[in-house]
Amino acid sequence: MNFKKITLYGSGLIGTGWLTQLLICDGFDVTVYDIKEDILEKCRKNTLNNLSLFVKEGVFSEEEAENRLNKVHFTTDKTKALEEADFIQENVPENLELKHSVLADIESVCRPDAAICSSTSALDLGEIVADAVHPERVVAGHPYHPVYLLPLIEMIPCEKTDPKYIQAVYDFYKSIRKEPVVLKKSCPGYIGTRLMTTLYRECVHMVTDGVCTMEDIETAFCYGPGMRYALLGPNTVLQLAGGEHGLIGVLLGGMGDSGSNTMATLANWTVYPEETYPYFEHCQEEMDKVLANRDDLHGHNNDEIAAFRDRGLIQLLKQHGKL
Ligand SMILES: NC(=O)c1ccc[n+]([C@@H]2O[C@H](COP(=O)([O-])OP(=O)(O)OC[C@H]3O[C@@H](n4cnc5c(N)ncnc54)[C@H](O)[C@@H]3O)[C@@H](O)[C@H]2O)c1
Repeated sequence: MNFKKITLYGSGLIGTGWLTQLLICDGFDVTVYDIKEDILEKCRKNTLNNLSLFVKEGVFSEEEAENRLNKVHFTTDKTKALEEADFIQENVPENLELKHSVLADIESVCRPDAAICSSTSALDLGEIVADAVHPERVVAGHPYHPVYLLPLIEMIPCEKTDPKYIQAVYDFYKSIRKEPVVLKKSCPGYIGTRLMTTLYRECVHMVTDGVCTMEDIETAFCYGPGMRYALLGPNTVLQLAGGEHGLIGVLLGGMGDSGSNTMATLANWTVYPEETYPYFEHCQEEMDKVLANRDDLHGHNNDEIAAFRDRGLIQLLKQHGKL
């Protein structure tokens, strides 16, 4: 399977992100479907805006960005969008009933051998394909926002998925410079969101327990572990920490006791308990102060902070040899 005709089904935040990525890589015949013309127009504008980041970096010229975008077919006609596609990435809102009806719509029109991927963040693929005619060709392909700057795609098959499609989708994602990881089985939050959830639970715990402020957490994370984690995974961080003994040296050696002592005091809540309610009551107020205290370079509001993040992500992509 060599996917060249790509259809993006749903053109909101994530559909627009996928489109940007496809245009950065070029060479695909791309169709974007959504339910209304004005939504497609917004997608078009936002894509051009996303591409301008790469124009600034000299990856391609402004004219080239416009040329690539002009070749994309934007349509509200489902049949036209789907009938020739060999790869469909579905990006409609996260609602199981909607995913069911959209998958039925897609299957009623697309070729019987087309691969269908869902951008779902949390739904179980087995449930999404419960009524599918060809469940063997459907895979969850969960991106991270911004899709065109974060390479990770978590691929989640289910027991009905044909390994041939898993491999073909994996190869396709690789070919558009993504870093797919195929989970061995589904679990809530997949890998990335589980790690983030664990981290955030402990942030709430430390603030509630009076260890530090929200601002301290921002500083400690961004200038400490966060900097390393942008370049190395948790296992590799420990591999280096273990020096000549490597990862096993850390796990069995000196850090063992302090690791256990720390673990014994971590939050293990399965729901946020009553003592954290004041945190949730006041966290936005506190966050507004944190935002006001940031320096101008790092940005004070969502737009400025996102621009700061995107400039940094471009540098990281280069460091990782991905741009
Ligand atoms: N927002 C994120 O950070 C993020 C990250 C990864 C994955 N996801 C997942 O991606 C999917 C899309 O999320 P989003 O944030 O782009 O949502 P969004 O609301 O920004 O976009 C959804 C798009 O789907 C369109 N749509 C709605 N009903 C439709 C239908 N019946 N047919 C075709 N199009 C329809 C909407 O018009 C809209 O353009 C969800 O499954 C979500 O869980 C989101």
